[in-house]
Amino acid sequence: MVKKEKDVFLINTNDLSYVFHIDKTGLVIHDYFGKKIDLVDFDIKPLSLKHDFAKGTSVIYDEKIDNQLSMDHVLLEFSFPHKGDFRSTPVLLKNEKFGYVFDFKYRDFEIREAKPLEGLPTPHDANEELVVFLEDKVAQVVVELHYLVFEEANVIARNIVIVNNGELPLTVLKALSYQLDLVNKEFELTTLSGGWVSEMNQQIQDIKEGKYSIESKTGFSSARFNPFFMIKEKRANLDSGDVYSFNLIYSGNHLAEIELTHYGLLRVEAGINPFCFEYLLNKEERFETPYAVLTYSNKGINGARLNMHHFTNNHVIPSQWNGTLRPVVINNWEATAFKFKENKLVSLAKDAKKFGAELFVLDDGWFGQRNNDFAGLGDYNVNKKKLPHGLEGLSKKIHKNGMKFGLWFEPEGINPDSDCYRAHPDWAIKCVEREPSLSRHELLMDLTKIEVQDYIIGNVSSILEKANIDYVKWDMNRNVSDITFGNYLPGEFYHRYILGLYRILDTLVKKFPQVLFEGCASGGNRFDLGVLSYFPQIWTSDDTDGHERLTIQSGTYLGYPLSTVSAHVSCSPSQSMLRKTPIDTRFNLAMFGDFGYELFFSELPKLDKRRCLANIAVYKKYREIFQFGDFYELDSHSDNFKKWQVLSKDRKTSLVGHFNVLQKSNAPECHLDTKGLLDNQKYDVEVVKQEIDIREFGSLINALTPFHVNPNGWLVRLLAKFKTIPGDDYKCQVYGSVLNNSGLVIHPEWSGNGLNDKVRVMRDFGSRLYIINAHEEN
Ligand code: GLA
Repeated sequence: MVKKEKDVFLINTNDLSYVFHIDKTGLVIHDYFGKKIDLVDFDIKPLSLKHDFAKGTSVIYDEKIDNQLSMDHVLLEFSFPHKGDFRSTPVLLKNEKFGYVFDFKYRDFEIREAKPLEGLPTPHDANEELVVFLEDKVAQVVVELHYLVFEEANVIARNIVIVNNGELPLTVLKALSYQLDLVNKEFELTTLSGGWVSEMNQQIQDIKEGKYSIESKTGFSSARFNPFFMIKEKRANLDSGDVYSFNLIYSGNHLAEIELTHYGLLRVEAGINPFCFEYLLNKEERFETPYAVLTYSNKGINGARLNMHHFTNNHVIPSQWNGTLRPVVINNWEATAFKFKENKLVSLAKDAKKFGAELFVLDDGWFGQRNNDFAGLGDYNVNKKKLPHGLEGLSKKIHKNGMKFGLWFEPEGINPDSDCYRAHPDWAIKCVEREPSLSRHELLMDLTKIEVQDYIIGNVSSILEKANIDYVKWDMNRNVSDITFGNYLPGEFYHRYILGLYRILDTLVKKFPQVLFEGCASGGNRFDLGVLSYFPQIWTSDDTDGHERLTIQSGTYLGYPLSTVSAHVSCSPSQSMLRKTPIDTRFNLAMFGDFGYELFFSELPKLDKRRCLANIAVYKKYREIFQFGDFYELDSHSDNFKKWQVLSKDRKTSLVGHFNVLQKSNAPECHLDTKGLLDNQKYDVEVVKQEIDIREFGSLINALTPFHVNPNGWLVRLLAKFKTIPGDDYKCQVYGSVLNNSGLVIHPEWSGNGLNDKVRVMRDFGSRLYIINAHEEN
């Protein structure tokens, strides 16, 4: 709900309020962003920061109207440089007459139905939109501040639009999407940083006087710093305290600046990175910045996370995929890489079906001369040596096997060794008269060119039309270098690439609404709300290791719901870490999201096959909750241990994962605790039992045998075929109030001795999954 009375604007969602007012000088002053409040007669005096005297050396904004007000010492809804505010400002403009000096005063406002941006994704189903118009009457430039309100998600999406109404061309040198000024409260900043096979690492730092920034200059949102970040009171924890979360609905270069001044004012702003950015606006042209997403919760990190999750599911991903169960995937990449033929793929699909897979995805290597990553990108002709019956033939066989068929594309990439490049060398991004730098032996297609966009749309469409394809994995495997430019300024290149990309994605997802698209960029190098506006899920990381995924997915969940997180079980040792992890842990991690496999089942040990069958049954039974339930991280009081919970909407079913990092001898007692169960409801609790291979016990096997055996010898190998150690069993009935408040004390971990059916043998990288169901009286 948006209300304007007197000079005060009040935005309320279910749980938060956002307040600002127009000052007598014409500046827009920010008053409040936090837990929902009421105002007496729209009087903001109790909330508003006082400026009863101008601090020494201050520049006074407009002495004739208010001889005490300096822009540097107030909270502003929009600020600009060269009029006394010496902090970072979201917009920097230039023209021939006024240089860098512009002065924006409030003009008017509009409350209306939300309108989508042109060429940029806009979150859908907003309750309403507020637009505040500011104007520099002398330069004839307008700045529009947009606020989309999402009441049930407790989110405000903001952007800034710059309109040049003057005769002189206007150069936009910086155009972020918003600024937010807050009074300091000993805040902490959490960012998500990383790289290939190691995305979304949470970095937490105290915000002290100074400036902090996260950015990407790779051309894409990137794994270096995800555009998501969080600012919380230092004392806030998982479940209580003030937490603000921020994200950007954009896939290109981004920048977030967080600046705390000596005077205790915190400025937060984010948007398109001004790095190599320069846009020219002629008369009557406008520049729209991407939407940014802001949320607040006083219910700690879990509260802010739930807001972001609900918002992304309900307002970002295409509506038809919200609540639509995602299929269990078998992807051939980690199994075969480029080495496959039709019959190998069909037999992999048949095996996978026995283990619950519903969708077979053919990954890289199906076209042109793509037998390795040196050649073929850019071409779309099927390699008949590998697939003699074409994609149509393979798709038919997969469908006949009762499965869906999906296909990998990397449409933005082009190998110099490809027919496409030989025919159109000018379609690749490269500078005139220079050799471009390669990455993974490839270049990127120049998506600023309409003919390149149309080539991609045409080729992908014709393949999707011909073969019966249910799913597309849209990959992109390099960062931008050697930027070029055409009929526009070089400073427009990065943004125009993203606009070109969005035009392609928008056209394809509208043309093929039944196709499930999954984004990918060497894993999570473009995991952002821009991509999610078209594709409802993203391949989270090329690292499928059963321990690394714990970190990667924990970071990802901070900003993105489980339905968007694609996670696969692969072989052990993992291809990225050469680390051995239990099959149950790989399963328990991949279940918290869109589950899939990436391995040869025939190469799995017998016991692992049994565990796959048991676990996939659990996943399928509770899939809706794993993909769309409410997610909580539970306090484990240790960096060596994590607890994740998902909860059904009716709060009657919940699943809790416990994940060990390194085994501790004499590990502390552990609780099975929960959030959000119905206090007065009786629940049945059980653990998913895990059998253990006797060889895991090494020479301790001798404690069970009448004579000494070699733990690595033939006898133990033979014995292991018939005998396993049954895992711990745990069943009980308990009220929700116990689980929510004290938690159940579960049985101790094995620690050198005491093996019985209650003791939990966790081991390094071990895990457990607990199922909690409302008890039904017979
Ligand atoms: C990228 C993707 C992988 C796989 C390969 C194929 O690395 O992230 O999942 O598709 O490309 O080349």
